[in-house]
Amino acid sequence: VKKLQAPRGTLDVLPPDARRRLEVVGIAGEVLGRAGYEPMETPVFEDTELFARGVGESTDIVQKEMFTFEDKAGRSLTLRPEATAGICRAYIEHGMHKLPQPVKVWSAGPFFRHEAPQAGRFRQFTQIDAEAIGSDDPSLDAELILLLAEIFERAGTGPARLRLSSLGTPETRADYLDELTRFLRAREDELSDDVRARLDQNPLRAFDADHAGTQAVMREAPLLIDRLAADDEAHFAEVRTLLDSAGIEYEVDPTLVRGLDYYTRTVFEFESERLGAQAALGGGGRYDGLVEELGGPPTPGVGWAAGIERMLLAAGDEAGEAIPRVFVAIAKPDASRTGFELARRLRRAGLRVETEQAGRSMKGQLKQADRIGAFATVILGDSIEVKDMQTGDQREAASLDEVLGLVQEATGS
Ligand code: HAM
Repeated sequence: VKKLQAPRGTLDVLPPDARRRLEVVGIAGEVLGRAGYEPMETPVFEDTELFARGVGESTDIVQKEMFTFEDKAGRSLTLRPEATAGICRAYIEHGMHKLPQPVKVWSAGPFFRHEAPQAGRFRQFTQIDAEAIGSDDPSLDAELILLLAEIFERAGTGPARLRLSSLGTPETRADYLDELTRFLRAREDELSDDVRARLDQNPLRAFDADHAGTQAVMREAPLLIDRLAADDEAHFAEVRTLLDSAGIEYEVDPTLVRGLDYYTRTVFEFESERLGAQAALGGGGRYDGLVEELGGPPTPGVGWAAGIERMLLAAGDEAGEAIPRVFVAIAKPDASRTGFELARRLRRAGLRVETEQAGRSMKGQLKQADRIGAFATVILGDSIEVKDMQTGDQREAASLDEVLGLVQEATGS
């Protein structure tokens, strides 16, 4: 028989990793919640057109990486490669521009990109995503960056380099792209085939190239950040002032390229040295034209996403919190129903309780109690004993009702 395996590029998340993921999501929810971000969910698949229009036809994501399929009615659907387009679609669909602005939301869930799997890069991965839609106030850009940094800190992902830039408005960008294209055309023979082939579609990709010749050309290329219009420049200056006063370190990196087309003004990315080639822990930016592009009213927005798998890779296997547990051991066969009932009662009293459910000997049960790190073991035999696992002391309970008190007196409760 063929051995069945998880599809290429997907992960089975086993204990204790699955718990650590939930902890990270919990941290994000708490940090974001304190700044007024509310949870929001959108479907895992959407009309293919949403991403083509939202993320951008010329991006790698749309050109090569989407999991696209037809449903039974022949509609083209795509497993979401990112969250922002879907959230903006929902913002428009539900008339959320009528709510007090900005609408601040966050979500966590699975995303899909058909990329070549490698360390930290998967075909199904999990993002935490945050968005503030409906205001172009630069304090939102700064707030979101600082919240992401706080989430990383609390999740223990270690030091990360923050790169920051501004892309200006689409008009400035169009003029700049013309200038850049002319510059690249003039030095076409020094560029990689890949960059040359896509020169007209996306000349900015040249900044991202690994090719040495292209890199040499790009060191002399004109930079968008030197061409910003006055109000975009002022917006960027305010973002930096707020970040400076918060004491966060960053580099202004005009070559920062994000893989999505919707960005305007601020863009940023956090990179960790603890990750390999896929160093981006998270990133985002402003997308002041996206809602309108998707058919809504002109509406600015800003947000970010961070990959949970990469956050946990960067955090390493530092031991999670020890959770205090109680083990209920069954010392004679007819005590197992009593054990079942006692475990239920102790759980209802708020304790984390496991009992014997695999037919182990008494010796095996005490070993199991040790293995799960129980601080107390209740032994149900001819009498009811509560054993403090740290001191080894054993005390007798006169009835089941007395067990809770004795357990609570044991070390660690
Ligand atoms: P992104 O930079 O494409 O941005 O993805 C954000 C994060 O998702 C990355 O930094 C990385 O941690 C994680 N990630 C992306 N692709 C993979 C993959 N194949 N395997 C594992 N992790 C991955 C966005 O998705 C934008 N929607 C962010 C945004 C929100 N911008 C504005 N609002």
